[in-house]
Amino acid sequence: MEYVVEMLKIRKEFPGVVACDDITLQLAKGEIHALLGENGAGKSTLMSILFGLYQPDRGTIKIRGKEEKIANPNVANDLKIGMVHQHFKLVHNFTVTENIILGIEQKKGIVVDRKGASKKIKELSVQYGLNVEPDSLISNISVGMQQRVEILKMLYRDAEVLIFDEPTAVLTPQEVQELMRIMKDLIKEGKSIILITHKLKEIKAVADRCTIIRRGQYVGTVDVKETSTEKMAEMMVGRKISFGIEKKEATPGENALEIRNLSVKNKVGVMGLKEFSLDVKCGEIVGIAGVDGNGQGELASALIGLQKSESGEIFLRNKEISGLSIRERIENRVSHISDDRQKYGLILEYTLDENLILKKYYREPYSIKGMLNYDEIHRYGEKIIEDFDIRAGRGGETTVRSMSGGNQQKLVVGREIDSNPDLLIAVQPTRGLDVGAIEYIHKRLIEQRDKGRAVLMISLELDEILGLSDRVAVINNGELVGIVNAKETNEAEIGLMMTGIKRGEADEDQIQ
Ligand SMILES: Nc1ncnc2c1ncn2[C@@H]1O[C@H](COP(=O)(O)OP(=O)(O)OP(=O)(O)O)[C@@H](O)[C@H]1O
Ligand SMILES: [Mg+2]
Repeated sequence: MEYVVEMLKIRKEFPGVVACDDITLQLAKGEIHALLGENGAGKSTLMSILFGLYQPDRGTIKIRGKEEKIANPNVANDLKIGMVHQHFKLVHNFTVTENIILGIEQKKGIVVDRKGASKKIKELSVQYGLNVEPDSLISNISVGMQQRVEILKMLYRDAEVLIFDEPTAVLTPQEVQELMRIMKDLIKEGKSIILITHKLKEIKAVADRCTIIRRGQYVGTVDVKETSTEKMAEMMVGRKISFGIEKKEATPGENALEIRNLSVKNKVGVMGLKEFSLDVKCGEIVGIAGVDGNGQGELASALIGLQKSESGEIFLRNKEISGLSIRERIENRVSHISDDRQKYGLILEYTLDENLILKKYYREPYSIKGMLNYDEIHRYGEKIIEDFDIRAGRGGETTVRSMSGGNQQKLVVGREIDSNPDLLIAVQPTRGLDVGAIEYIHKRLIEQRDKGRAVLMISLELDEILGLSDRVAVINNGELVGIVNAKETNEAEIGLMMTGIKRGEADEDQIQ
């Protein structure tokens, strides 16, 4: 095999943690090579080394057969290596073109011909079917589009080795399909790709080979066609994983949450949620299914108090709460797992321990007479780390920014579930988690239900909605399309309802 990249016995240690322990990865020319491993296994670190962001403690990197030292990302660029990061790095009030030429301009100290740049970007966009408008402002385009800008940035620099770090975690299922097509086109043009993803289905769909690592160590490289998803999952976790979700019959009680004719405006001032009504009972999980951007965000924001509703009412255990502040709602035992953990869930510069008590630091036993009680806070941190299997090099003292993406997510989920809320609003609770962690979080959500708590889950993953929910409410264009029993429906029906077609209408349409 002809290799474009060879990373041989790469080791990288951070204080308290060996992120990469003699890992080997060989990328063949023209292949899509998946990199699979649990949260915190060392995937992003390994790729940051290849992109020149970190220096390895030891090991060898060969690019096109020649040993290289990749001192910084400029060297990586010169070696035609590009990377789309787990968290994008675009400047929001700049245009697409400005973002793409940023850096090149500074480096060479010359004035770039913007018109020419814009033209080249347009051509690349057409060549790869990316549909990106060079003059759009980043803040005005969707996350999926922003990702394509990151792809264009690599192509503009003539990268031949493309690294994608969890590109699909932030995409809708439709956008994922599109990205898969784009990747295959890139391969046809002679590029080679390293793809990090936790979704085994995606690996099966596009990858040729897959390298698996576990806790910083190399486990093996397999041919994807010849290896089952179960086998890959097992190699990665070191044990068998149950893919189905097991749960007993729900025993719902009284209404915990009653939403009545709720209308909420979206960011641009148009009604994003319209006259929406729904009940969630104690002891049940209600899933909200819908294509991204159909009112889910407005619903969650209005429920937690981040955004004011225009009309309608929200009752929590018979008490109207729509006038209450965010903190008052938390005091009324509403918990929230946000889908944007870096924006709403966490303070990245604080430690793990401090993030755990963000919502209750002022209460006993975490504070006594206005003073933080660090002993108690630390004890609490140890408990959550243990319970939710959070991997962080320096335990509770770890700065959240240095934690892996999936472990940041586990921290948010652990904090919110552990507060034992009456109502848990879980938005994309397993985004970015590995299969083992997903299995665990699902169990904990079901446990909440079985304890008699109410869970409202918003997710774009239909598997998750159908597997976990007792009832499914489908939303389209800000309106409730219908509510169905999870046991009496399937992906096809939910998919149809997500386009706005009500139950029963489908058959009539087909007859006509
Ligand atoms: N800058 C850093 N300082 C200290 N520790 C770090 C730093 N970057 C990563 N780590 C640690 O190295 C380990 C590997 O992290 P990495 O981000 O590579 O994991 P990952 O495989 O990408 O996980 P995920 O799937 O959750 O994104 C983790 O324990 C993480 O906390
Ligand atoms: Mg990562």
